[in-house]
Amino acid sequence: MRRTEIKSLLQSRDYGSEVVVQGWVRTKRASKNVAFIALNDGSTINNVQIVVDVDNNTTSILEKVHTGAALSIVGELVESTGSGQSVEVHAKKVEILGIANPDEYPLQPKKHSLEFLREKAHLRYRTNTFAAIARIRHNMIFAIHKFFNDRGFYNIHSPIITGSDAEGAGEMFQVTTLDLDNIPKTKEGKVDFSKDFFGKAANLTVSGQLEAELAALALSKVYTFGPTFRAENSNTARHLAEFWMIEPEFAFGDIVDDMNLAEDMLKYVIGYALEHCMEDLVFLSNRLTEEEKNKKADEKSMELIEKLRFVLDQPFERLTYTQAIDILKNSNPNKKKKFQFVIEGWGADLQSEHERYLVEKHFKKPVILTDYPASIKAFYMKQNDDGKTVRAMDILFPQIGEIIGGSQREEDYEKLSRRMTEMDIPEESMWWYLETRKFGTVPHAGFGLGFERLILFITGMGNIRDVIPFPRTPMNLEF
Ligand code: 4AD
Ligand code: MG
Repeated sequence: MRRTEIKSLLQSRDYGSEVVVQGWVRTKRASKNVAFIALNDGSTINNVQIVVDVDNNTTSILEKVHTGAALSIVGELVESTGSGQSVEVHAKKVEILGIANPDEYPLQPKKHSLEFLREKAHLRYRTNTFAAIARIRHNMIFAIHKFFNDRGFYNIHSPIITGSDAEGAGEMFQVTTLDLDNIPKTKEGKVDFSKDFFGKAANLTVSGQLEAELAALALSKVYTFGPTFRAENSNTARHLAEFWMIEPEFAFGDIVDDMNLAEDMLKYVIGYALEHCMEDLVFLSNRLTEEEKNKKADEKSMELIEKLRFVLDQPFERLTYTQAIDILKNSNPNKKKKFQFVIEGWGADLQSEHERYLVEKHFKKPVILTDYPASIKAFYMKQNDDGKTVRAMDILFPQIGEIIGGSQREEDYEKLSRRMTEMDIPEESMWWYLETRKFGTVPHAGFGLGFERLILFITGMGNIRDVIPFPRTPMNLEF
């Protein structure tokens, strides 16, 4: 007989039917005559209650049933008289597929700290919190593909190993097969990459954008969804060394189209979560409320589901970087030097404290900032006529700060080439990118959404290490 997943079992009203249910024990309570086992198989956050009569046949088995053990149950589906669930399973046969020794199994039926669970990342999927996050992550991946597919965007696989630095920020992980104990050197004493696997220096990509642009300049509308690697040494709750990024790129469009697409996409996926992940969201909302119960009223975050609805209902506030600097310069925390980085004037790079001030305190809704100083943005952004700013757009979210970074691209060969020289970007590794501006160049634009930052926002979790199964951060490569 095939097993029934707990998700469909809990919806069934086929009382009296025989079912097979398999899963992991969350809790066991036993009295003299009867034992109750809460079983979960990951198909839903809800457990099914298994009722076992304690008798000569079951006693020795029940002794081995502990939190974490895997069971296979054959039993009868019955209407539940207890509170909560509408059905339960009266076991006829209990089989232990895998024991979990309670003296060794680290997850006990009590609250564990997120820090503790990070050290047990191989098992943390078995907690309600991490299983809920995993299900939401899946739904968001699916929703993103659906959003773009429904709008005629083609998914492109951009390379993971590259010979160029897409962001020009030099935060790349090198890829090599050279013997590090015996590195070949050139006459000048430099590493001789001509002896390396690819015959030149190679890195893990920081972005799929440049290749997405090549595709957009033929297919019109494309997007990538891939792993991205950054060797920035920032040990924050919002940075990973390995994260996933969604990068749409489209031809025949400008920065306004770019902002509209990004806002539509964010609202679509948030709406999708509300429609398809409600049970998990309710659980995470309660978790957050519990977590914050000792915080002062003005430090508490908005209730999770209310927050998601709120973002869905608001048009995002759109303003220029220059306008934002004015607001920040005259803000209370700036005047009272409460910001860690006090804004002195135009040209300053915005830190997440400034982004969050604009979103959480000033506008109280998501914000899109445009037209940043060229000096703090990447080489490929379209240059404005003022000679100072570029057609960049960043989307800032409550609790997160920057969730999306994008821009209209410089489509003029001369301007792009000049900018690359100014920024010391070697043309010999990027000639192919420049050539697209020589042959049939068109206005085009795109953006990058940090997938884990989206999941942070949707789940209400506070640390990015908790929304990716196996986080890679400085000095941390377990699992
Ligand atoms: O702003 P970024 O660096 O933009 C790009 O990489 C462009 N090539 C995107 C494009 O226009 N196609 O990164 C985009 C987003 C950020 O807004 C942020 O959400 C996320 O990627 N991000 C990170 N997420 C987690 N850990 C990190 N270290 C991140 N760095 C950026
Ligand atoms: Mg950025």
